[in-house]
Amino acid sequence: MYGKICGTGSCVPKHVLDNEDLSRMVDTSDAWIQERTGVARRHIIEDETTVSMAVEAAQRALENGNVRAEEVELLIVSTFTSEILLPCAACEVQKRLGAVNAACFDLNAACTGFLAAYQTAQAYIAAGSCRTVLLIGSESLSNMVDWKDRGTCILFGDGAGAAVLRAEPGEVPLTVMHSDGGAGGALTLQSRHQKNRGSGLDAGYIQMNGREVFQFAVKRVPEVIQELLEAGQVTLRQVDYFILHQANKRIVESVAKRLGADIEKFPMNLQEYGNTSSASIPILLDEMNRDGRLKQGQTIVLAGFGAGLSWGAAVLKW
Ligand code: ACO
Repeated sequence: MYGKICGTGSCVPKHVLDNEDLSRMVDTSDAWIQERTGVARRHIIEDETTVSMAVEAAQRALENGNVRAEEVELLIVSTFTSEILLPCAACEVQKRLGAVNAACFDLNAACTGFLAAYQTAQAYIAAGSCRTVLLIGSESLSNMVDWKDRGTCILFGDGAGAAVLRAEPGEVPLTVMHSDGGAGGALTLQSRHQKNRGSGLDAGYIQMNGREVFQFAVKRVPEVIQELLEAGQVTLRQVDYFILHQANKRIVESVAKRLGADIEKFPMNLQEYGNTSSASIPILLDEMNRDGRLKQGQTIVLAGFGAGLSWGAAVLKW
């Protein structure tokens, strides 16, 4: 048995912060941000929270998949930006959805989180532990960036995406995941809530060596996609879409080029949302599902990368 995605949903905050708004907050410009990242605007929470966006995205996914909340047996929220740490965000989402039969936990693999949740769901279903799984990536990155640091605040946005998986007979989709904790210093976020935090000045804010992260992504993502396709005996031409974590347009373009694949197969929506970490893949999946770009039988590659450092990819039939 494997888990087939039968419904998708997403939710982004109402408030939009565009590059012109940002240029009034830090020393930057629309031209610089668009050229270096491709991001034009991002949605930022006001009344919304990581949990409230997760609940809305999940409700839309359940409705889209024609699945009742009580049918969900496993509920995973991928996040590192939840406003509540105990109970886990997944339990709070369960309560609000009425998913009373679900086992719930959060998972943090940063921007690779949705891939990690997808792989976990497949393993549970293949083991016969459950039949219906709800996966959610929900992030409020605007809570975690230093709005005075132009090197990071321009990149990120808030939002949530969700997918419902149902057990069906068939092969488990291939997923490959890697981590390199030794290189983790390139992208960090220290908790504000710690006794021994040294100088502690930067605690609570994302710290990033942009160049290092960029070099890592453009090397590791094509590598892991090649590894995945070789293992699955799938050719580049057989893939209809490569749905990458939406970090940066230049990263996506560089991955397409290094693979020798047609850029048309790499959909992007980062111009609208910025980098929403583990929400970016399910938000894009939901948009493509709803506007009819995703069609039954297509071969889709998902690829995530980010803090850890961590990276991974999965190949599935829509
Ligand atoms: N506006 C204007 N100028 C800026 C800005 C800004 N927002 N940010 C930096 N600069 C300046 C720098 O100060 C520097 O000026 P200097 O030459 O006078 O010193 C110059 O622009 C170049 O800075 P770099 O940091 O070298 O710029 P780079 O071309 O590397 O672009 C960027 C920076 C966009 C962050 C790039 O490194 C990048 O995309 N990295 C990947 C980041 C990423 O995607 N992270 C997340 C992935 S993982 C995850 O999703 C969590």
